[in-house]
Amino acid sequence: MVMVSWNWWAPVRTCTLPCGTTNNAGGRLYIIIKWVLVPANEVQFTQVKYDFQQVQAPRLAGLLLKLFTILIEAPLIGSLITGYLKKQNKMNEMLRNTVIPEPPMFKPEYPPQEQEAGVVDLEEEGKPEDRVKSALRCLPHHDPAGRWNSKSTSFRYWKIRDYAYAYRSGLTTPAMVAENVISAVEECKNMVPQIPLLISFDVEEVRKQAAASTQRFEEGRPLSILDGIFMAVKDDIDCYPHPSTGGTTWLHNVRPVNKDGVAVSRLRSCGVIFVGKTNMHELGLGATGMNPHHGTPRNPHDPQRYTGGSSSGSAAIVASGICPAALGSDAGGSIRIPASLCGIVGLKTTYGRTDMKGTLYSPGTVEVIGPIASSVDDVMLVYAAMLGSSPADKISLRPPIPCLPNLSSGAGSVDSLPLRLGKYTEWFNDVHSPDISDTCGKVLTSLSEIHGCEIVDITIPEIQQMFMAQVVSYGSESLCSLVPQCQNGEYKKLALDSRIPLALFQSLSASDYVAAQRFRRRSMYYHMEIFKKVDVIVTPTTGMTAPTIHPSALSCGESDLEVTGNLMKFSVTANVLGFPAISVPVGYDKQGLPIGLQLIGRPWGEATILRLAAAIEQQWQEPKKKPIIYFDILKAD
Ligand SMILES: *[C@@H]1O[C@H](CO)[C@@H](O)[C@H](O)[C@H]1NC(C)=O
Repeated sequence: MVMVSWNWWAPVRTCTLPCGTTNNAGGRLYIIIKWVLVPANEVQFTQVKYDFQQVQAPRLAGLLLKLFTILIEAPLIGSLITGYLKKQNKMNEMLRNTVIPEPPMFKPEYPPQEQEAGVVDLEEEGKPEDRVKSALRCLPHHDPAGRWNSKSTSFRYWKIRDYAYAYRSGLTTPAMVAENVISAVEECKNMVPQIPLLISFDVEEVRKQAAASTQRFEEGRPLSILDGIFMAVKDDIDCYPHPSTGGTTWLHNVRPVNKDGVAVSRLRSCGVIFVGKTNMHELGLGATGMNPHHGTPRNPHDPQRYTGGSSSGSAAIVASGICPAALGSDAGGSIRIPASLCGIVGLKTTYGRTDMKGTLYSPGTVEVIGPIASSVDDVMLVYAAMLGSSPADKISLRPPIPCLPNLSSGAGSVDSLPLRLGKYTEWFNDVHSPDISDTCGKVLTSLSEIHGCEIVDITIPEIQQMFMAQVVSYGSESLCSLVPQCQNGEYKKLALDSRIPLALFQSLSASDYVAAQRFRRRSMYYHMEIFKKVDVIVTPTTGMTAPTIHPSALSCGESDLEVTGNLMKFSVTANVLGFPAISVPVGYDKQGLPIGLQLIGRPWGEATILRLAAAIEQQWQEPKKKPIIYFDILKAD
C-alpha cells in the first residue's frame, strides 16, 4: 500500500488506493509508483485549485536555435533532451505514471443537445446559396446606402452587405474592385518591412473570376449576397488552381491539388472570388505566424508585431481591409488567436460541423476550418455557406440541424433570451497584462447590466491535462500526416522552430496517446457538468496582445514557448473537446493593440455564441481604431 498525495494538480484528494505494482525481477523487488486518479464524476469541483503552469523555456533564435535543433534530432542526445522537456512539463507524470479510470475518447463525443431557442434552421443538405439567403434574413438592420454616402470620419470596415449594395446599385463592379485588391496585395509585398500576405497569388486568376462575377451582375443574376465578395484561403485548405504549401517550401510537390476543398467549393458556388492562399505559420506548428520561408505577415495595427497564428495571413488580409472575409483553420486557436490580435472576428466551428475534406491534416480530431471577418454579420454569412458535416461525421457524431440566431427579430436577441455566462476567475485573470482581463471583465459587467446576462463563477478541473491532450493529439495527428515526408528526409527543409515540436512529437508513444485521450474524456465530463449551469464559457481569447517581432527571428525563426503558451492559454478547450468558440474584438490595451474576448459554446451551439457576439459587437460603441495598414478597397479612387 502506497500513499500518495495529490498536490500539483486538480483532483484534490489523497489517494489511499493500492498504487504500487510489485515486480520480482532478477531477485530484486521494484516498486513502480503510479498516481491513481479518482473517477471524474467523484471529483469535488469546490476543492479544485487553479494551478495552470506556464511553459518555462528560454527563447531560442539564430545560432542557438540551430544548435538546439541539431541536438534534439540527434539519436541519443535527442531522446535525452525530449525526455528532459517532457519531465519538466510533467508529461511523463501525467501520461505514464498515472492510472486514469476513464476509457479513452478518441474524438469529441457529445451527449444529445437541446435545440437552441430563437433560431432559424439551415438546410444542411440544401444549396449553399439557399443557406446564405436564410442567413441574410437573420442579420440585423444595416443601411448600406447611408454608409456609402456618409461623410463620417470614424473608422468602420466595409461589410459584405456594403459590397453587395455597391455592385447592385452600379456604384462599382467586382472587376473594378479586383484591381484595387490586386494593387493592395502588391503594395503590401513591396512595403518596408514587407507584408507577405499571400503565398500563392495569380493576378490573371483573380481577374478571370471578377470578370465572370461582373458579367453575372450585368445579366442581373448574381448567385448570392456573396457574389463578387473577395476572400482569401489559408494555405492548408485546397483552393484550385493554387497549390497548398501549408507554409512549407515543398509539401505541394508531394501533395498536388486538383480540386477545391469542400468548404471552398461551397463558397465558390455562391460566387465568392478567391484572391489566393494566405501565409501561415509553417504546418500550423506555432501561434505567432512567423514564417522564415515566405516571410512573416505584420500586424496591421503595428507592423513591428506579429499577427498571431497560425492563420496569420488570413487575419492580416481581413484586418487591413483587403478582403471582407477569409478562411482559416484552428487546431489550437489558429483562427481565434490571430483574429484577436488583429482586432477582428474569428469563428471556430464545432468539430464535425464543417467538412474537412481537401485540407492538409484531414481527417483529424482537433482541427476545424472557419471564417475570419471584420464583423459578426459577415462571419454568419460565410459560415452559412461553408457549413455541412462530412458523411463520416454524420454517422459518428449525428450533428443536429445547423442554425443561426435571428438577429433581425426581437425574439432572437440576447435580451429576450438572457444567457448564463461562466467565468473561471483565476484563469480569466491569469494574463500577461491586466489591460486584457480588465477590458474583458468590463464587457461582462455591461452584458449583465444591459442585457441581463448572469455571470456565474465556475471552476474547471485539469486545464493543464487538457492542454497536454491537445499537444499529444495534434502532435500525433500532424506527425501521422507527415510520416511519409519525414521518412524522405524532407523535414530537414522545415523551419527550425517547426522541427523542434516534431522531434518532441516523435518521442511520444502509443500509450501516451491513449492516456491523453482518457484525459479528453475526463475533461468532456467536467465541461458537460459546467454546461448544465451555464450557456457559454467566457475567457479572454489570448493571454497577451500582439508580441513584438525580434529581428533575429525573421531569417531563421525563433522558438519562444513562453509566448506560444501565453497566446494559446485559453484556446485549446475548444479543440480537444470540439466546442464552437468565437473571438470578438472588445478594445485595446495601453499600447493600442487589439484585445479579443472568447465565447465558448456547447457542442453545436454556434447560434448562441453568434447571438452573444453580435450583442457584444453592438454594445461596444467606442470608435474602432483604423489599423495603420488599411486599404479602402471598395471606395478607392
Ligand atoms: C427573422 O425575423 C424577421 C422578423 O420577424 C423575419 O422577417 C425574418 O424572415 C426572420 N428570418 C428568417 C430567416 O426566418
